[in-house]
Amino acid sequence: MKIIVVGTGFVGLPHAAVLSEAGHEVYAYDIDPQKIAAYQSGDAEQIERYVNEPGLPAAIADTIGRYLFFTTDISDTCEEADVFYMCINTPPNRDGSTDLSYYLKAAHDISGFLAKRKNQSRVVLVNKSTVPVGTARLLENILLEHGVENFGVASNPEFLAQGKAIEGSRSPDRIVVGADTEEDFKILRRVYSQFVNHVRIKYVETTPETAEAIKYMGNTLLLTYISFWNGVGARVAEALPNVRMEDLKLGVTADNRISTWGSYVSNGAGGSCFGKDIQSLIYQLNQTGNSTDLLQAVYNINEYQKTYLIDRAIHEANFNFNQKTVTLLGLAFKKRTNDMRDSAALKTVETLLSKGVKSIRAYDPLAMGAAQEYWFNPDNNHLFNRISYHDTVQEALEGSDAVYISTDWEEFRGLSRTIEKAVKPPYLVIDGRRMIPDYASLVEKGYDYLSVGGALMEASAVSEETAVPSANGMVAEMKMEKQL
Ligand code: UGA
Repeated sequence: MKIIVVGTGFVGLPHAAVLSEAGHEVYAYDIDPQKIAAYQSGDAEQIERYVNEPGLPAAIADTIGRYLFFTTDISDTCEEADVFYMCINTPPNRDGSTDLSYYLKAAHDISGFLAKRKNQSRVVLVNKSTVPVGTARLLENILLEHGVENFGVASNPEFLAQGKAIEGSRSPDRIVVGADTEEDFKILRRVYSQFVNHVRIKYVETTPETAEAIKYMGNTLLLTYISFWNGVGARVAEALPNVRMEDLKLGVTADNRISTWGSYVSNGAGGSCFGKDIQSLIYQLNQTGNSTDLLQAVYNINEYQKTYLIDRAIHEANFNFNQKTVTLLGLAFKKRTNDMRDSAALKTVETLLSKGVKSIRAYDPLAMGAAQEYWFNPDNNHLFNRISYHDTVQEALEGSDAVYISTDWEEFRGLSRTIEKAVKPPYLVIDGRRMIPDYASLVEKGYDYLSVGGALMEASAVSEETAVPSANGMVAEMKMEKQL
């Protein structure tokens, strides 16, 4: 099949690379010449500047020039194309609705090219990025408006998690295809021939609108589950006496019907999808006059989670952030990515600055470049000059009064030793990811420890009785995480 992937970001680039592995002739198209030059170079570092996914540079290297081609011009490539994948960014508007301006621009451009085709063989235009229910129909109207002939529209949403884009594309749990005609379903079955009738992979064929809705339902349900643990589980363990977070999680998720994924309490779920998708679904349902109370509560809980530890530090630990230096460990929205979109760290920085901190000493193993691009921009906030960037955890800790752990990077699990080496008590450790298994020994040595899903452990208040069993609980969590 001749396939054109329009847009080469987190969705389009891995998709193009994996499609080319199946022997399709794939043209990855982007209007940004710098991106295309970076991908064409084949150089891992250059590729990772735009999309950092394990296995991606190797996947590109395998097929580039044979099955995979990069281009900034598809006016001629359109000829004889079987499928177009629309992988355009669809950011949120202020009111929660989806900004389709980039998408619509691309749709009009492509329609213009397709209208001039000499060869009128069937072409299917497939929406891969997350778009509101009804967008495939909108695309159909644009194509008709331009006089394009012999085409179909389809929805084939992306369900990949970041950091697993290549692995997930090679071995997905499902393929959802929404189309209108058997002819179009057939074309997409040829694209995904290795997944059709697969013993494990669910291949769902439905209407374009249902496929679009499946994506929103999936993401909002996942966020609802995370918010249940953050908004209920963490509160139960923080506020009710003698409840241990790790045991609570272990006991509840032992039920086969209840997932362990999503039960890791945190300082809020981030990323480019969850917040955006739930707001968009709220908007879409509001437009139809429907109640969105549950979705709104889920969204609010997740936003609250991103800053509430700072409030707890002030009110429970009596920590005054004014003129203090705070180390921020982890900037990406989750481990194994350099992506900071909607990361809890962004809200944390904003809140710390609003509390009058003197400086923020930041460290992240992958996201330092992304952070500096964002925070160096004086248009965003002149207070961002209070942020300094450090190459190691130890360096970032030096001279600070408190540390805030925002991302679940594995290297933070060994943090207690580094803290002991770098800073002396009184010192407050704020753990937004429950990353320090041996926090009890820190508390014994005079550090205060405040975590999501746990009561404040004050240096003076710790006793053998409270510290040791809780520490064991944390070790239990580590073991469990390794098994997942
Ligand atoms: C998410 C979904 O998991 C994918 O299925 C979906 O395809 C994707 O959005 C998308 O729409 O493109 P992703 O944004 O990569 O994937 O991130 P997740 O791994 O789901 O994590 C989202 C956030 O939730 C992260 O900040 C993570 O740290 C947090 N999280 C996750 C928790 O706080 N607790 C957990 O137990 C799990």
